[in-house]
Amino acid sequence: MVVPTIREILKKGSPDKGVVVRGWIKTRRDSKACSFVEINDGSCRASLQAVLSPENGDFAGALPELVTGAAVEIAGDLVLSPAAGQKIELSAKTIKLHGSCCPEKYPIQKKKASDEFLRTVAHLRPRTNKYAAMLRIRSELAYLIHTYFHEKGFCYVHTPVLTGSDCEGAGEVFTATSFDLSQLSVLPRTPEGELDFSKDLLGKKTFLTVSGQLEGEALALALGRIYTFGPTFRAENSNTYRHCAEFWQIEPEMAFYELDDDMELAEDFLKCIAKGVMEKCPEDLELFAKFVEPALMDNLRNVTESKYERLAYTDAVKLLEPVNDRFELKVKWGADLASEHERFLVEQYFKKPVILYNKPREVASFYMRLNDDGRTVRGMDVLVPRIGELIGGSERESRLDVLEKRMAELGMDAAPYWWFLDLRRFGTVPHSGFGLGFERMMMLVTGIANIRDVTAFPRVPGYAEF
Ligand code: 4AD
Ligand code: MG
Repeated sequence: MVVPTIREILKKGSPDKGVVVRGWIKTRRDSKACSFVEINDGSCRASLQAVLSPENGDFAGALPELVTGAAVEIAGDLVLSPAAGQKIELSAKTIKLHGSCCPEKYPIQKKKASDEFLRTVAHLRPRTNKYAAMLRIRSELAYLIHTYFHEKGFCYVHTPVLTGSDCEGAGEVFTATSFDLSQLSVLPRTPEGELDFSKDLLGKKTFLTVSGQLEGEALALALGRIYTFGPTFRAENSNTYRHCAEFWQIEPEMAFYELDDDMELAEDFLKCIAKGVMEKCPEDLELFAKFVEPALMDNLRNVTESKYERLAYTDAVKLLEPVNDRFELKVKWGADLASEHERFLVEQYFKKPVILYNKPREVASFYMRLNDDGRTVRGMDVLVPRIGELIGGSERESRLDVLEKRMAELGMDAAPYWWFLDLRRFGTVPHSGFGLGFERMMMLVTGIANIRDVTAFPRVPGYAEF
């Protein structure tokens, strides 16, 4: 039998007879006359109060088991609550205990636990208010993203997770193989003595994708406007508050878009989905504003209401060089801006999101379109307060000869990219796209400071528990 969720019950907010509620006990409090049990079923932040009165049933025997974390099913009548704090409550008649919960051993107690501790019990932390709220917002945010692109006529495509090319060319890839690496001595070898991946299940060396972009480009050059929404993987050993080895990326790719169009879309997209969370998740956001990041709502208003600063890389360097003594790493034309520089621009100088574009070619990915100056490329990053880079994107190099030259300069083996080059051979057009890091967007909308706490089961250097 399916019973209503607490969210549905509270939304309706009216008395009702013969209602069954299922969930986990948050707390129990006993008065002389009766006991009060707060039940939460994860459907919303609020709990439902069940009142256990001896006038309505014999609860004395069950009481010792009705502790924090126990799973119960309570049947009774929904009545208007005589006390402040809740509009309606459940006047219990019967209680069924599904699963007891040893108070001495259960790690989730009412007392606030640290984020570090809760990561070690990631299978139970969704039972806390904070992590349940985070996961509900995550779900809503994903839905808002799909809605945004759907309403704009983008085609939702699925790019492979197992891929033969390293999109970012940074070599930060996880190799995916069906070889049993504990049997190294018996695995097939090439004449040169290397592992022979042509004998591997997929017939070649493959990786977990770092980005769906390259395949996304092929699909955009047929369907016009597409987006991906999937997991991506980076074997970079970055132990920071904003890097995960596994994270989700949303990657729109648009035929006939130039860099300006790309930046415009990125800004509109961020504003719409952030606004959407503010509208759809007010209760859960209130929790984060109250207990996690006091400036959350101001930050969100800043992201949704301000006009993002468009700043060319060269102008950023001009602006930062005079204040170089503030920084650990000195700014110099030609080098990537570090997180401290990005945050200075966003948090102290402009005090709003910044779209940094036209990076030097030396620090750019191979696929970014070269500008006529020969020194910079049409890449862009959207930088936001607290997080720094939230989106990375570019207009793509759509000219075959320029792309081939660039790949050769970088010493890339063009062979695995034959199909990517084909896109420039057959009906090439200007096109652009970007990637939004879903977890970083979650950090922005919740105010949660560490990426390990915006995903249910984080994958970071040295940690793959659960
Ligand atoms: O800037 P990145 O590396 O760009 C790409 O992958 C392009 N192929 C995207 C495209 O144009 N289609 O990554 C895009 C975004 C970053 O801005 C950041 O938000 C996020 O992905 N990101 C990470 N998030 C968590 N952990 C990591 N290790 C991340 N690396 C990148
Ligand atoms: Mg980037």
